[in-house]
Parts: sequence; structure tokens; C-alpha cells
Amino acid sequence: MKTYRIAVLPGDGTGPEVMREGMKVLAAAEKKFGFNIEPAAFDLGGVRYKRTGETLSDATLEELRGYDAIYLSALGSPDFPPGVLERDVLLKMRFALDQYINLRPCKLYPGVKSVLANKGDKEIDFVVVRENTEGLYAGAGGFFKQGTADEVALQTSVNTRKGIERCIRFAFKLARSRPRKRLHLVGKTNVLTYAFNLWERVFEQVGEEFPDVERAYHHVDACCMYMIDQPEVYDTIVTDNMFGDIITDIGGILQGGLGVAASGNLNPDPGGVSMFEPVGGTAPQFTDQNVINPLACIRAGAMMLEHLGEPDAAQAIEEAVAKVAGELPGLGVGKMGCGTDEVGDRVVAGL
Ligand code: IPM
Ligand code: MN
Repeated sequence: MKTYRIAVLPGDGTGPEVMREGMKVLAAAEKKFGFNIEPAAFDLGGVRYKRTGETLSDATLEELRGYDAIYLSALGSPDFPPGVLERDVLLKMRFALDQYINLRPCKLYPGVKSVLANKGDKEIDFVVVRENTEGLYAGAGGFFKQGTADEVALQTSVNTRKGIERCIRFAFKLARSRPRKRLHLVGKTNVLTYAFNLWERVFEQVGEEFPDVERAYHHVDACCMYMIDQPEVYDTIVTDNMFGDIITDIGGILQGGLGVAASGNLNPDPGGVSMFEPVGGTAPQFTDQNVINPLACIRAGAMMLEHLGEPDAAQAIEEAVAKVAGELPGLGVGKMGCGTDEVGDRVVAGL
């Protein structure tokens, strides 16, 4: 029987509650589909930081490299300086493990109330491929004359041909596998005339290898408008790190909110270690109230199984999640008509 060693990071705030449901569903799936999940818990995040002052040590990072995948709920807490755990754990893992794709599906499940008046599950079904290791997230920049009246802050967007090309090639392959076979590059070629000029040239070059995939381009501001007004134009989107961060929050709302939005930080190369997480944060004010929607974390688990090579189990979980999502009275905090644990139970029953 195939065994997958998974590093599990329950995280902070409501993280452990949604992770419990995610693990519950994985346990049900392994029985049904005949594989074995070997989880190892890591107390990365607020708990460890409080105890030891440590965020993510090089030794822990090395240890994480030995797993088949990482399953994370959410990190961060108002008890700590803002951004520390996000930057020193989450972003550090994405960079150090070279998880160069951030894959964020945006699919409204049938029966889930849409925030858009005339757009339902037929219209809202696309995937965003966000470059995950470069751009404005690369940390290039600095202060000049800090603390003086002449202070300058620089934050430089880093765009390498290699980084762009591997991301765009992944996006074309994904677009080819989807029924509509349409890929939009989202950028800002009219203003970011260096960065997106390179993106555009690489997009056209790589696109020649995929004559069956329809190519299109939208400026990011227009994309925000289309996502609300005509989401059906999108099938697959590829974009840089910062734009991808922003538009996938719109994507989260389009599919019913952060209670269902899931993502994968992928290193698709041989031997690469990928990390799967809900898009939402720790929502610390709701800790231990059993009111948080675990479906996003459960879906992230399904994406992990798909990536590990268990597509049937992934598909079954996805279908069970879709059914439960469509039946719940709402998907937001405290709106599910039942507790966090019961939502997990219903997905298990659906399996
Ligand atoms: C996300 C988050 C992170 C990001 C933060 C927490 C650093 O917003 O995963 O989208 O900006 O990538
Ligand atoms: Mn974000």
C-alpha cells in the first residue's frame, strides 16, 4: 500500500479546529481508497514562537524537505508583531522549498448563493496560477536616509526569465487539461513596461508550444472588473505574485468566501515538496467556538491528494465538499447552521 508522509501544521487561532476536520476527511479517504497517510505534527507558528522565540529554523526546514507534502492551516496571532510569522514561516517555506506555483481554484459550487446577482456556478469556474517566489515578494529593496525628512523606501519587483517561464509553462499545461482551454495573462504592460514586457514575450513564446490553448491578455485593473462583471470569460489565469495575491481574494469571495477557498503552493519539479493551505487566516477571535468553516482546509487536503497521485480520492472529496457546501444555509463564520466538526462529519458521510 502506498504511504504518504505528511507534515501537518495545525497553526494558530482557529487553525487547529479546521485542521482536525481536514485530517478526519483524509483518514476516511485513506480507508476508502487504499492508501496510507503518515502524519507528523509540527508546532510551527505562535505556540513555538512564544515558547522558544523561534519561527522556522534551518534544521526544521531541512526536516520538512523529507516529507511528501506539507498540510498547513493558518499562522499568525495578534499577540505577536504583525507579519513576523507570515514572513518568517509561511513565506520562508514558499521560498526555501521553491514552491513556485500558487494554485488557487475559484469555483462556485452548485447551490451556493453567489455574491453576484446574475452569475452562478456556470459562470464562476476558473483557476488562478500565481507566481509564488518572485515579484514584489522577493524582498529586494531598502531604506535610504531612514528616519530623516529625506527618507526613501524602495521595493523592487524581481522577474526572472526562468521564474516566469516555469510558471507560464505550468499554466499552459493546466489550461490544456481544462475543458475550455483558455489562458489569460494578467499584468500591467502599459505601466510596468519592463516586468510585464518580459512576461508578455515569454507568454507568446511558450504559447507557441500550446497551439490548442487560446491565449488572451488583460490588464490587472480590467481583470478586477471582469471578475465581477463577466467572470465567465476566465478559465485559467496566470499572473505575478502581487497581482495574484490581490485577485485571488476577489476569487475567494466569488466562490462563497474564505470558508471554501483553498490553495496549493507547488514545487512541481521531481523531489519538490509542496504545501497545501486554506486561503484564509487564523480568525483568532473565533478560536474554540466551533463556528469556523473547515471546507477550505478540507479542499486543500483534496488538492494535496491530487498532487500526491490520488486523483480518485481527491475527486471524491471535492464532490462531497461540493454537496455539503450546496446544502449548508451559509458558508461564512457561524452561518453554516451547524458546528465546524459537524461540517467535517458531513463530508465524511458524503464520501
Ligand atoms: C496569501 C497571504 C500571504 C501572501 C501573506 C499572509 C503573506 O495573503 O497567502 O495570500 O501575501 O501571500
Ligand atoms: Mn493573500
